[in-house]
Formats: sequence, C-alpha cells, structure tokens
Amino acid sequence: MPGGEPQGTESKKVLKMYILAPSLLAADFNILGRQIEETERAGAAYLHIDVMDGTFVPSISFGMPLIESIRQTSRQFFDVHLMIMHPERHIRKFVECGADGITFHLEAAEDADEIIECIHSCGAQAGISIKPQTPIEAVYPYLSRVEMILVMSVEPGAGGQPFMPEAYHRIRRLRNYIDEHDLPVKIEVDGGVGKKNVREIIDAGADIFVAGSAVFKKRSISSNISQFMQAFKEKEGRTKHGKDR
Ligand code: DX5
Ligand code: ZN
Repeated sequence: MPGGEPQGTESKKVLKMYILAPSLLAADFNILGRQIEETERAGAAYLHIDVMDGTFVPSISFGMPLIESIRQTSRQFFDVHLMIMHPERHIRKFVECGADGITFHLEAAEDADEIIECIHSCGAQAGISIKPQTPIEAVYPYLSRVEMILVMSVEPGAGGQPFMPEAYHRIRRLRNYIDEHDLPVKIEVDGGVGKKNVREIIDAGADIFVAGSAVFKKRSISSNISQFMQAFKEKEGRTKHGKDR
C-alpha cells in the first residue's frame, strides 16, 4: 500500500484461496466429458481452455464448438486462454459460447485497453498473459483494470514442457507490486506446474494454478488433483504479509 501499511495489517488474517485450473489440452478427448466431470468432482473450480490459432503459436487446438458443448454440463469457471492473433475479433463469440474469463496475450494485442473493455462489456473477466521473454513490468499499467495476470512459465504453444525457474522471480516481483498497491488482481501461472513445484510457486505468490499433464497424465485425475488440494490446504489461511511468503 503506498505510504506504508495501516496499523494492525501485519497481524490481519487474510484467507488465501488457491485455485486449480486443469488444462484441457492434456485431456483424453475420446472421453472428454467424463474427464471434465472428474476434475469438477475432485475440486477443480476452474477449467483452463487453451485456444491456439497456428499463427501466434505454431499449433492449432480447439475453439468455440468445443466450449459450447462442454458448457452444457460443467459448472466450472471457464478460463479461456487465447493464444491467437487479433483476439478482439473473437471475444464476443467466446463469451456467448460459455467463457467466464478471457485471457489474451499482450504480445498479440494492438490495443490492450480496447480488448479489456471489450471483454468486460461482454460480461466476462479479463486477463492478460505474457510470454517468458516479455518483461513483467509490461503488465503494470493494466493491473487496476484486469482481474488476472497469467504468467507463462513455458513458451506458449504446447503442454508437457518443463517449468522455467525464472518464473519464480517474475511471479514474486509481480506479487510484491500488486500487494504494495493493494490491487485485487489475481496471478495465474501456466506451464510445467505439478505437485513437485506447486508449494514453491505458492510461496512466490501465485493464486491460480494451470496444470495439464500433472492432472490428466499418469495416475488418476482425482488422485492427481487431491495432491494439489493437499498443498493448497497446507498453505491457505496464512497472514497475507506473513514471513511465509
Ligand atoms: C501451453 C498452455 C498450457 C498447457 C500446460 O501453451 O498454455 O495451458 O496446456 O500444460 P502442462 O501443465 O502440461 O505444462
Ligand atoms: Zn494455457
């Protein structure tokens, strides 16, 4: 908070809640409905939906028809991550299909303010994502206008890549800046997140954890998710400005 902390803040308990956002990219599309249901039952409040256009990133994934179809049964928050050029052209349609939050890439935005306004006017939450090479300060001018910043911890475009350790420092800096200015914006992390590094990423300051391979590959979805939930439980409910962070 600018001008110093008000008295008593040090001991104020802030109930921290962490959110898991399973990334559909790693799901088995042959049994997609069943897998989504399993993530919801196991406690994943969000579903992370990666839309790729073959231009902003080399690969092409899925789009509106898939979102519209899974919207019929899932009650999760649909967290749509647009890895596409000209995001403004498609926002309204994605919201109509069932997106609750739309995240666009700053690197693909000609006019970020206009895109944020468009997302809000369509009734969705707005997020900005940045690739690992984009300086974290690039999002600072937008922090009071978006609900979420998505810090990529891999190069966007594919699942199953290893977490880039530089992301810890980037998340920590962003967290410090957000806390100093007392902003309500959430930090999401995406790429290479798993049960081995989730506690460290929590300590760096993230709120929302995207996980594809760590949820859908190996073992069962519910046992994978329960390991994340365990880590969240251990870390939730600490003082916001406590030493743990
Ligand atoms: C990558 C996507 C991620 C991806 C994460 O471009 O944005 O959401 O699915 O996959 P994992 O968790 O396997 O790294
Ligand atoms: Zn993603």
